[in-house]
Amino acid sequence: MQVHVIRGEMLAACQEMNRTGLNQGTSGNLSVRVDGSMLITPTATPYDQLTPDMMASMRIGDEKGRFTGPRAPSSEWRFHRDIYRARSDVGAIVHAHAPYATALSMLRKPLPAAHYMIAAFNTHEIICTDYAPYGTADLSALVVARLGEAHGVLLGSHGMIAVGETLERALWRAHELETIVRQYMLACQMGEPVILSKEEIEALIPRFAAYGVTA
Ligand code: 13P
Repeated sequence: MQVHVIRGEMLAACQEMNRTGLNQGTSGNLSVRVDGSMLITPTATPYDQLTPDMMASMRIGDEKGRFTGPRAPSSEWRFHRDIYRARSDVGAIVHAHAPYATALSMLRKPLPAAHYMIAAFNTHEIICTDYAPYGTADLSALVVARLGEAHGVLLGSHGMIAVGETLERALWRAHELETIVRQYMLACQMGEPVILSKEEIEALIPRFAAYGVTA
């Protein structure tokens, strides 16, 4: 895919996150792997002022945070870079302060398998990391360790990350994660949700390889 098309898709994804309430203001960020580099949203830029040329480009192998582009990259460039380094299957990363997922992260609680859709995340439990300040190498190390081979993770007192083979698929998972956290919280208000077993979820995981928005 041509780079200018990817930049346009990134802008559309940011606008969708604002429109659907997954993010607001300048919170959250996203990136796409392009060969040995990543394109990443600029820091502190309201999505309604964002244009495709503002996406910063960074080499995934670079240690120093060097970038090209008219604006500095997202303050979270470290965890974006480090996830791409750790996970060759990941082609795009979405970070959001989505209300329900963030509320659960404030409780520092994982999301258990109360709904079978968790299988779309290659895990029977979405883990919540400890807290580390935004933009730090400490946060990045926690994120990479706790994400493991899963496709989503909660960041303690902060928000969530969803990953995918493509931007479309990462965004799809971000919406799904917010939805199943919301459903779980609604169920918790009425009683104690039944948690599906690890075996029940593992049996579903292969079916999600080609389910939903395809790669
Ligand atoms: P940036 O504006 O630097 O991307 O930061 C937003 C954010 O959500 C930090 O976690």
